[in-house]
Amino acid sequence: MCGIFGYVGKKEAPAILIDGLKALEYRGYDSAGLYVAGAGLVKAVGQVKNLEAKLTPDFKGTVGIAHTRWATHGVPTEVNAHPHTDCEGKIYLAHNGIIENYGELKAELIGKGHKFASATDSEVVAHLLEDFVKAGSTFSEALTKTLAMIRGTYGLAIVNTSEPDRLYVARKGSPIVLGIGEGENFLASDPSAIVPHTKKVLYLNDGEWAILKTDSYQLFSLAGEEIKREPTVIEWSVEETKKGGYDHFMLKEIMEGDNVIKNSFRGRLLEDSLEIKLDELKEVEEKLKGIKRIIITSCGTALYSGMVGEYMLEEFAKIPVEIEYASEFRYRSPIVEAGTMVMAITQSGETADTLAAIREAKRQGALIVSIVNTVGSTIARESDAVIYNQIGPEIGVASTKAFISQVTIFSLLTLYLAKLRGVASDEETKKMIKEIVALPEKIKSILERREEIKEVATKYAGFTDFLFMGRKYTFPIAFEGALKLKEISYVHAEGYGAGEMKHGPIAMIDPNFPTVALCLSDSVYEKMISNVEEIKARSGKVLAIATVGNETLKTLADDIIYVPETVEFLESIIAVIPLQLFAYYIGIGKGYDVDKPRNLAKSVTVE
Ligand code: AGP
Repeated sequence: MCGIFGYVGKKEAPAILIDGLKALEYRGYDSAGLYVAGAGLVKAVGQVKNLEAKLTPDFKGTVGIAHTRWATHGVPTEVNAHPHTDCEGKIYLAHNGIIENYGELKAELIGKGHKFASATDSEVVAHLLEDFVKAGSTFSEALTKTLAMIRGTYGLAIVNTSEPDRLYVARKGSPIVLGIGEGENFLASDPSAIVPHTKKVLYLNDGEWAILKTDSYQLFSLAGEEIKREPTVIEWSVEETKKGGYDHFMLKEIMEGDNVIKNSFRGRLLEDSLEIKLDELKEVEEKLKGIKRIIITSCGTALYSGMVGEYMLEEFAKIPVEIEYASEFRYRSPIVEAGTMVMAITQSGETADTLAAIREAKRQGALIVSIVNTVGSTIARESDAVIYNQIGPEIGVASTKAFISQVTIFSLLTLYLAKLRGVASDEETKKMIKEIVALPEKIKSILERREEIKEVATKYAGFTDFLFMGRKYTFPIAFEGALKLKEISYVHAEGYGAGEMKHGPIAMIDPNFPTVALCLSDSVYEKMISNVEEIKARSGKVLAIATVGNETLKTLADDIIYVPETVEFLESIIAVIPLQLFAYYIGIGKGYDVDKPRNLAKSVTVE
């Protein structure tokens, strides 16, 4: 999730652009750059202050664009930093989003003689614009033709050096907001960079583009028709704008759930042909055909997503899988025989135990394939192949959106490997893909009922001990739900396999020790009901997570949170959402800083 900022007015643009990028720093990034009409292009890896340090007093101009990059394609380098330009340095652009068909477009443009500088998907836009302008289009025509060719998402800010008095802006899937000032206008990925200058904002809708000048703005549809729309005045503080109007990053990131799933499968799941495309694995495809075992090693929430992946891979790709706590794997002299693939699952890509675990596996000759959210991170760089989450940085310390993205990617990987190894029917694969595509709307339907979940959380907020229990695909969710509650509200909670209850934990059950029971309508539902009955027989309270329409639990459980039906293969993604919200509301009910819980770090880069 990159940060974009643009200015057109009468003041010196460089300082305003730098301030705009600093306001967007919270979004996370790995490099930055800016272009000022009449002054030039400057880029830097690392923090915005590295970019600022490169600006000289004579670097002047009143129109410009700036960008902080959160890499999705191409590692963080100056060359890959935005703005990007065309062959002749006449068009400069900053892009936020993913261009799914950039490979085809780039090949076609190279065939026409275009020279590319970067490894990014974004650069193709500059060369497409150049191509259309050279073929005789006006810049506006070139822009609409270019946008029509792009599959994927974009937020674009563009300077055409032949028209240095304006900015071109376009949006599809990646937010872009205009700031309407007095004798100056702004654009940004989110209003937090605009609010210090003006509170009059105007959000572009998907498929719209605009021309921004010092004293005017024009809105257009993709077809080129002008759209008349007045700006609105936002009342948010700068801090509130960073959280998208939510009180905390954690809630913002939970509420992004539907888009997180879409971005995780974007460019990887062809909805028309119902196929999975994981280009990231092309180079290791032959090795993947022959792997005999997979070891999944990571920490915390990332490990729990791996536990779901284990069940998926064994059930549908028919590959033996084992889960290893990275902090144990690295010390216990594991045996990693030939034909083993080791997977690191990690949001930060810097977790010390996980890094040490894959280094040990690599030393023993394993193929390392990782699921990572941070492009260019250490674990990404030390893996033989990486599947990036493509969901933008996760800022809240508690991992929420990364978890559902990791499990989504495991579902894609499972179907990909099942097909590659000839163990899945097309019909079964297509059925699963349809269910993956249906997930975002199902998640949205849970998020829309978050006030109900808040009420339940408030009811249980006084308890000091919780048991979470699940089976099969919700077995890992019992652990993840307990971890969320522990780290956000500092309340003791245990995740347990429901089948293990009779082997000890049931001795703890009493009216002051509630159980969160994952009772979705799946192949182990009847077993879960038996567990719930055992708990009720001992006066334990039960909060059940159940599939919409379930009537049985109304007579059994003390409280129920309903979730939409989905296939068992994907149910962990649905089941975890209410538990993330449950933990969040209990945590804020206790007045804790849920974005930065005590004693925790976002990335545990030490042992
Ligand atoms: C989860 O909410 C915690 N923040 C923690 O367990 C985290 O998942 C773990 O430290 C792994 O981090 P990583 O995904 O960045 O490797």
